[in-house]
Amino acid sequence: MEPHRSPGLLQGKRLVLGVTGSIAAYKAVSLLRTFKAQGAAVSVVMTAAATKFVAPLTFEVLSGERVVTDLFHTHEEMKHLTVPENAHAIVVAPATANFLAKAALGLADDVLSTMLLAARCPFIVAPAMDGGMWRHPTVVEHVDLLRSRGVRVIDPEEGPLASGQVAQGRLATESSIVEAVLAALTPRSDWQGQNVLISAGPTQEAIDPVRFISNRSSGKMGYAIAEAARDRGANVVLVTGPTSLPRPSGVEIVSVTTAKEMAEAICRRFPWATVVVMAAAVADFCPKEQAPHKLKKHGRSSLVLELEPAPDILAMLSARKTNQILVGFAAETERLLAHAETKLKEKGLDMIVANDVTRAGAGFGSDNNAAVILTREGRQRELGLMSKRKLADELLTEVKNLRTGCHPPSVISVG
Ligand SMILES: Cc1cc2nc3c(=O)[nH]c(=O)nc-3n(C[C@H](O)[C@H](O)[C@H](O)COP(=O)(O)O)c2cc1C
Repeated sequence: MEPHRSPGLLQGKRLVLGVTGSIAAYKAVSLLRTFKAQGAAVSVVMTAAATKFVAPLTFEVLSGERVVTDLFHTHEEMKHLTVPENAHAIVVAPATANFLAKAALGLADDVLSTMLLAARCPFIVAPAMDGGMWRHPTVVEHVDLLRSRGVRVIDPEEGPLASGQVAQGRLATESSIVEAVLAALTPRSDWQGQNVLISAGPTQEAIDPVRFISNRSSGKMGYAIAEAARDRGANVVLVTGPTSLPRPSGVEIVSVTTAKEMAEAICRRFPWATVVVMAAAVADFCPKEQAPHKLKKHGRSSLVLELEPAPDILAMLSARKTNQILVGFAAETERLLAHAETKLKEKGLDMIVANDVTRAGAGFGSDNNAAVILTREGRQRELGLMSKRKLADELLTEVKNLRTGCHPPSVISVG
């Protein structure tokens, strides 16, 4: 693959490229060439399993440096300490399920895993494995643990795998890996000084002590915005409904269950906020009364639940707004733009992110999303299918433009 940006973006940077025993190990050869073409010096470290797939000689010739494969090959120096000490970032691509487990648990039984414990620089992993392995609860837990510690995990892509199945497990594209390395090496601080209040996830409205009304929101979009704002220097409070996502580090988390609790938590912190992003899927209606005991089916031919409107948090915020920027989400299944425009106006929002949740590969539960951003001034920006994290960054850039009054052309398409 050709370098995806102009040459020299990694000039002066030293990277450690860790290669583990995945069938995708050959792709690390091209990745190494791209890192080199961008000006980086690269130390390649291979696990014993990786050397079964690609000979160290290939990496040695292309990197121009001795490849490190053995923890106990110590006649020169203690490589597990000196290599990471001099590195600006460690990138492990491809990363096996075995390697993720060792990294998550702090096991150090070979040179690559031992280096991780010695390293103090950003750590980026790009897993690659069979679809069933990627979905295995143990792997999921290890990935969550790594993410919660600030490791940048680049999700594998969906597509045909070596096993013949079509599933998520293919090593991420080279451009996404390079993008992640650049982001890790050049942290942005354009949101420093901003107080960002974000809501995420679903709410649960109790019917009785064991049942509730909820929705399909996973919380991934709101969490991605919280992480993006944190990484760009903002102070972030994330008010979250029940989700199974790992809690992002460096973000204040407020856990709530019901729409009423979410409204209270958000309203309390509203005066502190400079920007509010309501990405939560808050219930529109909740049961008027909660049964004190579990409702029994015995003796009933039907059951009628009386619902009443849940607190309209956006309307509440709109009424209290001083100089906060207020951003809402419209998850729609039809007439996307018309519904979003109505919500933008009726709720007095500065910006709305409209997404069609019926679109394949996007919306609830997915790692990707596609959206149209509409602003109060009538600007419209279409963001094609992209990761929720990338969409979060695009959204923050739009909010910043709104704040600073910088207005690129009024209809833009990206992605
Ligand atoms: C042909 C073949 C392909 C493999 N591909 C993968 C893979 O893509 N991802 C993975 O996690 N493990 C894969 N494995 C299993 C790993 O090689 C094995 O778990 C090994 O112990 C990993 O060691 P390492 O993490 O130290 O490199 C593969 C094994 C074989 C034989």
